[in-house]
Amino acid sequence: MFYDRERELEKLEEVHSRAGSSFTVIYGRRRVGKTALARQFLKGKPGVYFFVGEKDEALLLEEFEEEVKRALSGYLPAYLKPKFSSVEELMEFLLDFSKEQKLVIVFDEFQNFRSVKPSFFSPLQRLWDTKKDSSNVTLLAIGSYVGMIKRIFMDRKEPLFGRVDEWMKLKPFDFWEAYGFVKGFINVPPKDFVELYSVLGGMPRYLLYLRHYYGGDVIETIEKLFLDEFAPLREEGLNVLKLEFGRYYRSYFSILEAVSLGHVTPKEISDRTGLKILTVGKYLSELTNHYEYLKREVPATEDPRKTRKVAYSIRDEFFNFWFRFVYHNYQHLEEGDIENVRSDLERNFPAFVGREYERIAREFVRRIDLGFRPIRVGRWWHRGEEIDVVAYNRDNVALFEVKWKDLSLKDARKILRDLERKGSLLPLRGKRLLGLIARGIEGKEELKEEGFLVFDLKDVLFLR
Ligand SMILES: Nc1ncnc2c1ncn2[C@@H]1O[C@H](COP(=O)(O)OP(=O)(O)OP(=O)(O)O)[C@@H](O)[C@H]1O
Ligand SMILES: [Mg+2]
Repeated sequence: MFYDRERELEKLEEVHSRAGSSFTVIYGRRRVGKTALARQFLKGKPGVYFFVGEKDEALLLEEFEEEVKRALSGYLPAYLKPKFSSVEELMEFLLDFSKEQKLVIVFDEFQNFRSVKPSFFSPLQRLWDTKKDSSNVTLLAIGSYVGMIKRIFMDRKEPLFGRVDEWMKLKPFDFWEAYGFVKGFINVPPKDFVELYSVLGGMPRYLLYLRHYYGGDVIETIEKLFLDEFAPLREEGLNVLKLEFGRYYRSYFSILEAVSLGHVTPKEISDRTGLKILTVGKYLSELTNHYEYLKREVPATEDPRKTRKVAYSIRDEFFNFWFRFVYHNYQHLEEGDIENVRSDLERNFPAFVGREYERIAREFVRRIDLGFRPIRVGRWWHRGEEIDVVAYNRDNVALFEVKWKDLSLKDARKILRDLERKGSLLPLRGKRLLGLIARGIEGKEELKEEGFLVFDLKDVLFLR
């Protein structure tokens, strides 16, 4: 069953409803659901779906001809068997066909043309430029490798530069969408769901594994998914990222591993990896801006362009987990020494989930009504002090401490007192609200009556 992606489908429908032709690039990391989205969009529309496998053009054309025959059988005379001598010819045929009839054309794994037939891009550009105005094609080029897709379409020297009308980056499901998705096929208690989401993120493909791999125990599920000899996700980070980074993947990997271990500033990363600080800077910038695997964070009260206080984090929950617990322990895994990995997991997984819960809490705060509209929501830190969530505008400040724990009323009060003290260090004015987001909180109602903003896991998960 196809789930959600309502905004994406609506956007595609809008583009499709325009007169004439349009060129859309859908990109996003492997397994995120690009193919499923395109197939869902194609349903009930005249359209062709071409999967650009890494094979000879001639073999590819045979498959494409079959697809044209299948998709356009209602439009073409029965005796006409589609036959093309090149992908250019196929493209020209479809552009001409669509003069009379709106047509969707999907090229999945479009970046593979770079190895199948790199010379295709120039004629495609020429055909597109000359025929698009008289045709009615909704062209979707899907790509799995962010770097390659950007190179094909954003590099001025490339033929297809400037041809794309719409860019759609397909993201994993967010925390709430992911819960809705999982609930559709398996019953997972909220606490376990947060832990599993910390590991798998909102990736439909990975979440689907829970159907067969989750039996009520999170650590056991992780072992079966990542650590066992035949664990399906053990090599996944390598499989997905090696192609993206190409020859120099080792340096990128060691930086991502360092970040996943909590070395988050350029200096710390350089010390950890042994790479020169200038080199680290270059890689960090690529990983952040070009590949979009890292996020550059600054304290919520600082100007991101001016401050020198930066911290990097891995955007994707899955990669964050994979680098921290799988790649970091590769040697052990290779030697079949699961014990060591298991003990790393048992010691460090709770804190790992704690940090993910902070991220979820920040998203949660962005979505709730604080009684004012914040201009910024983020984390704050200064000289060893840290506040998990700071949301503010000119006249109001809301501060939250986030705990992946069940708190007694006494603990909760102590945390709130400390939060008040930390709050006084902030260079912010305005009316102050103090809050707590934990897994469970004893005396929640009592604290709320006293004016604190208090939320437990149920509040977070069942938002709205
Ligand atoms: N919106 C959705 N609803 C239900 N299932 C989905 C959805 N999106 C993806 N899936 C499932 O997740 C899996 C991965 O999705 P899909 O193959 O579309 O990803 P992809 O981005 O094309 O990945 P790849 O890089 O492997 O080609 C598939 O089994 C698909 O059925
Ligand atoms: Mg796909």
